[in-house]
Amino acid sequence: MGRGTRAESATANASPAGPSSPPPAPPVIAIDGPSASGKGTVASRVAAALGFHYLESGALYRLVALASLREHVRPEEEERLAGLAAGLRAEFSGDRVLLDGEDVSDALRSEHCGNLASAIARLAAVRAALLGRQRAFRRPPGLVADGRDMGTVVFPDACLKVFLTASVPVRAERRYKQLKDKGIRASLAALSRDLEERDARDTARSAAPLRPAPDAILLDSSDLTIEEVVQRVLGLYRQRVAEGTGGAV
Ligand code: CDP
Repeated sequence: MGRGTRAESATANASPAGPSSPPPAPPVIAIDGPSASGKGTVASRVAAALGFHYLESGALYRLVALASLREHVRPEEEERLAGLAAGLRAEFSGDRVLLDGEDVSDALRSEHCGNLASAIARLAAVRAALLGRQRAFRRPPGLVADGRDMGTVVFPDACLKVFLTASVPVRAERRYKQLKDKGIRASLAALSRDLEERDARDTARSAAPLRPAPDAILLDSSDLTIEEVVQRVLGLYRQRVAEGTGGAV
């Protein structure tokens, strides 16, 4: 993982460039939204189209969940979980994720891991322990980051913030197809129930609740294809760049 660029230094974006001013912080596109809203697919395609780095922040919460299962740490043990989060030996290589050198990409995607991640993500100490690690992904030429609090907490100075939603039936259907493609059996009714529970927990928690940043653009993808959403986000970013508010590129 690269060296961290603190988001606070990104105020440099707004300051006039002078001989002694620090280089502008690389631009960030923040894509937040609930489970199965398509934000992961959209974010990684937008990153690929722009040649930007990509941060799937949910993977970090899932990694802490997986590490906790392996180390027998219970979801109530906040300090121990924060310790696990701080010491995670994780590597991101293409679409594979390694934990302690082992490829855990498939284990991370399980619904069990996702639900446990959501329970652990309520804990302020865990969130604090992951903050620097997330900000370290901000490197030139830019970053696309997806999650729940990218625009509100982790990258409040992101040049573009999108809050991606879709109705519960549409999201359940998408998650169902995703699992089916991987040969994992699931029930649509159980998936809908899980999504609603996860949304409720993510929205109601006091630490970094799931909510759009005041300056986020809301995009309902219920009736849009992934490609249409990708094109809208790219269009919005290009508009920012044309207006001079797209950050350094
Ligand atoms: O794929 P899905 O959207 O269901 O989940 P994810 O993005 O992999 O995240 C798993 C869980 O981690 C979520 O339910 C959130 O509770 C939590 N999370 C978070 O709190 N903040 C983030 N920036 C990303 C994920």
